[in-house]
Amino acid sequence: MLAKRKSFNARHIKPWRVINKEIMHALELDGKEGILDIGCGFGDLLQYLKGQGHEGRLTGIDLSDGMISCARKRYSGITFMVADAEKLPFKDNSYDVVICKHMLYHVNSIPKAVAEVRRVLKYEGKFLFTLNSYANHSSGKFDNHIQAIEKMLSRKKIETSHRINMENYHRYVSLFSPLFESRMYGSIHLKTASPYVDYVRTFKHFFSPTPSDEEWDFALRKIQSKVEKEIKSKGAFEEVRGKGVVLMQK
Ligand SMILES: C[S@@+](CC[C@H](N)C(=O)[O-])C[C@H]1O[C@@H](n2cnc3c(N)ncnc32)[C@H](O)[C@@H]1O
Repeated sequence: MLAKRKSFNARHIKPWRVINKEIMHALELDGKEGILDIGCGFGDLLQYLKGQGHEGRLTGIDLSDGMISCARKRYSGITFMVADAEKLPFKDNSYDVVICKHMLYHVNSIPKAVAEVRRVLKYEGKFLFTLNSYANHSSGKFDNHIQAIEKMLSRKKIETSHRINMENYHRYVSLFSPLFESRMYGSIHLKTASPYVDYVRTFKHFFSPTPSDEEWDFALRKIQSKVEKEIKSKGAFEEVRGKGVVLMQK
């Protein structure tokens, strides 16, 4: 599901800014740092850093067994472990850089996870995180569609990426000093509804309790007809998407 969402974003958000490059640019690495990627997913970012010639220790942790075993199979020379961001299995002051790429909004307690980042970072270590931005009407239509589904199915979507975002993150990281921040916006422009409907389809398990297949198909048909109506009247379905990179220091 994560891979499907990523592929939708990379194919349809224009201009598409490769966030790994932005991360590399922000970090200004000397290549020797010990780096911990929390919520590393399939490990692509760490492999990207390795491919750029990084020689320091690279560690990726994720709560998902499946993702970690996939990362281990794909990439060698990187340590991958199943672990919880809220209880990191590392000593105090053990990493030069900690990265949380599009993951902080998934943890149960954001303050606990941020406190763990601070604990494992060395003195003056760098904390880099990426989040979504909801400025400039970003994701407004998607949010409306999610609300429409909530009403249709009498379900609540489990709150995720709005909890911490580029507009409100400051309240969680007041103990860190700001070093760098950048935001980037792109537009989705679709002439057919199906890629977007397939994207929305991946959010089934974000609703609680999980809708049945019949309920989910029913909701998606309604979203499809809303999007098709818009394409018919305006010539295309358009949506802005925003994201950002933040770099802070301990
Ligand atoms: C949106 S994905 C981002 C994955 C990866 N950082 C990327 O950008 O491709 C969020 C990841 O955070 C992981 N995650 C969620 N809660 C976590 C926790 N408490 N501790 C560690 N990882 C967690 C999920 O399993 C998932 O792989």
